[in-house]
Amino acid sequence: MEFFLDTANLDEIRQATEMGLVDGVTTNPTLLSREGGDWRSRMQEICDMVKGPVSLEVVGETASQMISEAEDLTSFGDNVVIKVPLTTEGLVATRILYRKGVKTNVTLVFSALQALLAAKAGATYVSPFVGRLDGIANDGMELIREIRTIFDNYDFSTKVLVASIRHPMHVLDSALIGADVATIPYSVISQLASHPLTDKGLAAFKADWDNFTKLN
Ligand code: G3P
Repeated sequence: MEFFLDTANLDEIRQATEMGLVDGVTTNPTLLSREGGDWRSRMQEICDMVKGPVSLEVVGETASQMISEAEDLTSFGDNVVIKVPLTTEGLVATRILYRKGVKTNVTLVFSALQALLAAKAGATYVSPFVGRLDGIANDGMELIREIRTIFDNYDFSTKVLVASIRHPMHVLDSALIGADVATIPYSVISQLASHPLTDKGLAAFKADWDNFTKLN
């Protein structure tokens, strides 16, 4: 399973890249607005820093607005993936971009049927939001299971990109189900690395070594 970082923060991208954990990055208008500053330079810096795909999202409501934004956003780099909302206009835009050879990430997906529509339109990725579904007492991971089954049934090449990840269990379940990508906030990446028994074991090794070397 590929790991994308769900962020527009350059330090987070740098740190996760040093750990070899960044296969790509996903941004959205909220993440970019949180960082402040000039969004164009920020997008450019992210696209330059990251070797893998970088999702940049359109905000227009009509397909033609989305297409003209996509033309601008693709100028940031060859690794740009255009993030398009799962609306009827978004599906039209996805189809047009597919025909032009532009990669898309269809976002704000909350049902398996929406994911099926995105795949049929030619999406490169679909982004089901598991955390937001869990947040309204639905089962986010069950949606991932359904989408995986449908895509496998019909050999869709569209990749399942698990989004709105809140905790390590979302990452573990994504990998067990066979999602193609998990886009993970940096805070969850940090949680994945830590384990109390690792800390305890490390402290014991250090104490034993210090005692031993004092004696020699
Ligand atoms: O980038 C899309 C998605 O991961 C957003 O997650 O935390 O806003 O539900 P969240």
